[in-house]
Parts: sequence; structure tokens; C-alpha cells
Amino acid sequence: MRARFTGKTMVLGVTGSIAAYKACEIASRLVELGASVIPVLTRSARELVGPASLEAITGNRAILGMFEPLQNPEIEHIAVARRADLFLIAPATANILAKAAHGLADDWLSTTLLATRAPLLFAPAMNTMMYQHPATQANIALLAARGACFVGPGTGRLACGDEGPGRLADIPHILEAAAMALTRDKDLAGRRVLITSGANQEPIDPVRFIGNASSGRMGRALALEALCRGARVCVVAGPSDVVPPEAAERVSVRTAAEMHDAVMQRFDGCDIFFAVAAVADYRAAAVNQAKIKRTGPMTLELLPNADIVAEAARRRRSGQVVAGFAAETDNVPGNAAAKLAAKGLDMILANRVGGADCAIGAEDSEAWLLRANQPPETLGRASKSDIARRLVDAAAEMLR
Ligand code: CTP
Repeated sequence: MRARFTGKTMVLGVTGSIAAYKACEIASRLVELGASVIPVLTRSARELVGPASLEAITGNRAILGMFEPLQNPEIEHIAVARRADLFLIAPATANILAKAAHGLADDWLSTTLLATRAPLLFAPAMNTMMYQHPATQANIALLAARGACFVGPGTGRLACGDEGPGRLADIPHILEAAAMALTRDKDLAGRRVLITSGANQEPIDPVRFIGNASSGRMGRALALEALCRGARVCVVAGPSDVVPPEAAERVSVRTAAEMHDAVMQRFDGCDIFFAVAAVADYRAAAVNQAKIKRTGPMTLELLPNADIVAEAARRRRSGQVVAGFAAETDNVPGNAAAKLAAKGLDMILANRVGGADCAIGAEDSEAWLLRANQPPETLGRASKSDIARRLVDAAAEMLR
């Protein structure tokens, strides 16, 4: 994610919704990700959040009005319009959507939205009735038809006490949408990517299951990378607190059999299948209907589960790419090469796990990319998003 923001100039336009106070958190997260953030506050936004907070967070002067920048050519509106990589309007009121849709230019933000050719991302936040009003909906449709992006609004209890759509999207979703809007190279446009992610739970009785430590974070990083590059993404996800990006379709499953069925229903329609999940290799031969009582030593009979990625590789048509993962404690590239061949995959990402600094769920790990009939490529210690980018590069190359 960080690589998408580092060195980028983002205009954060804050307009007069109650959610304006959340702009400080958004700015802080963007700065943390390496972006240079120019805060802009409309007159109504200034009633709700002060420029001093945004200036302290971003280290940049907040732009408040059309004429003040005349003293400072750095923030003159045409200069900023040219320099910006993205305009993020969060929160976006019905008023700024109407002005942007119709080309009104009566303050710094609306004027600069006309002058820029940078991508626009709006995060609407307003009362449900205002959001659902045909005028607002028509303005959104008009902006979307011109290529503007939207994130949210979410649904829930609003500041006015009403329930419904109108809440500012959650900040992680805004950041994901910003990463997508910042990515110009859409080399996976029109492609479908299917991903299995996380771990399975194989029940033993109503309260116990066999599981593993896979977090779902690698699947999430891959889904975001593919979305940024224009793909339609479906994540078949085992139970996890790490949720796939908002823009991906999520199919929630528990057991390996459910994951298998969900994948097989969708596999024929995908261009790339990334099997990231740590699929449970075994299930209990019988699931006890009642909670098992402690009686002394016990033996659990296990039956093997189907190998999802191997089955997908067997049934793939030409033009489909099938990629697997191998988490290994030793002989990492060697064991991964054996899996690549045995499962008939196009590529496999090998990771070292175990040891103090290579725990499952660690942010970085030592990784290798192996492709059929090619020597292993060492990726060194790589973060999940670096690995995701490299894997998507390799899959996109194969599709070409
Ligand atoms: N995989 C799968 N279905 C299974 C088991 C594994 O799709 N039933 C996929 C994983 O998603 C991963 C790859 O196969 O992409 C390798 O998984 P791994 O568990 O390392 O392979 P196994 O064949 O189970 O080997 P091991 O004996 O090391 O557990």
C-alpha cells in the first residue's frame, strides 16, 4: 500500500459535513503512507474543523480561500491543480458534488476541481434524504460518467439521528479507494482474479475446530494490488478479522470443502487464480453433535481434504494462470519447486516460516518466486505488498 502513496501529492478537500472532523485522521494516515497532503477547507468545513490541526498533521499550509494563495505561488490554484496526483474530497457534501458536476467555480476547491486533470475521488457524507435525493444521485452519476471515483457512503446511524446511507466511508476503505485511484497503469482491466485467503476451520464438535495461524493479510494485499490494477476481484475467505478490500467481492467460507465448492463455482470465469489460503489438509471423519467431554486420552480420526489449487490447475483452460503459495520451514525453494511440479502450477510463491523473525503473520518474510521451467527468483526479505506486486506482475506477464 505504502508504495502507492510514497512521493505522491494529494489534495485533501474537506467540505462542510459533520464528518469533517474525520479529515484529520485521513490526513494522518495518508502522511503515514508517504503522501504529501495539501489540506483545503471550504468555508463551511472551517466551522467544523480548524486549519491548525490539518496543518500540524500534514506539515503543509491549509488552503482556505481563493485570494490568500496570491501571496504564495506554491498554493496558487492552477499550480496545485497541475501538481496533484489525486484530489480526495472527504467528506464530500451534496453541495460540492453539485458544484463539481455542473462546473461551478465559486471557491478555491470547486475552481481547482475544474482546473485539474488529476483523478477525483469523492467520499460523500450527508443526511440520507439528501444523499438519496434525485438531484444528488444525478450529480453522482454525472461525475461517475466523467470518470470520477466514489467511496461509500456507508450505512448506519447518522449525526442527525436518522438511519441509512450517508455515513462517511470507513477510513481504511477510503485509503484503499485512494490507492486504486492513484494507480494509472490498469494492466488488469477487464480481467477477473480469484483468490483464496486465510485459514479454514474444520469442526470437531459444536465449539471446537482444527485451524491454523494464517491471518488472511497476504490474500488482502494481493486483492488490493489486483484491484489497483483494474481487475475485478473475488476473495473466497476463511474466518478472519482481516477483511478483504471493500471493492472486492467477498465469499465467506469456513471449511476446506466449502472453500473448494466456492472456488470451483467461480474458477472457469477467472483469468488468474491465486491460492493463498492455508487450506486445512484434513477434516474430522465425524463431527460430534454434542460437545466432547474430557475422558482421558483420545484419538481423532481425520480424512484428507481435496487439494483445491491442484484441481484448479488440472481443469484450467489455456490462458488461465494458476498460482500457489508454499510456507516452508526448511529447504524453502526446493520444497516449493516440488509443490509447483506436483500440483501443476504456473507459479508458486515460497515463504520461509518459523524462527523468531519469520513467524506466520509477520509483516516481512524471506521469499522466492518460482515459475514452471525457470530458475527460482529470490525476492529477499519482502513485505506482503511487495510480494503481491511481484506476483501480479508475473501473472500479468503470463496473461500477455
Ligand atoms: N492448497 C489447496 N488445497 C489444499 C491444500 C493446499 O489449494 N487442500 C494450496 C494452498 O492454498 C497453497 C498450496 O496449495 O497455494 C500449498 O499449500 P501447502 O499447504 O503448503 O501444500 P500441501 O500440499 O498441503 O503441502 P504440505 O504437506 O507441506 O502441507
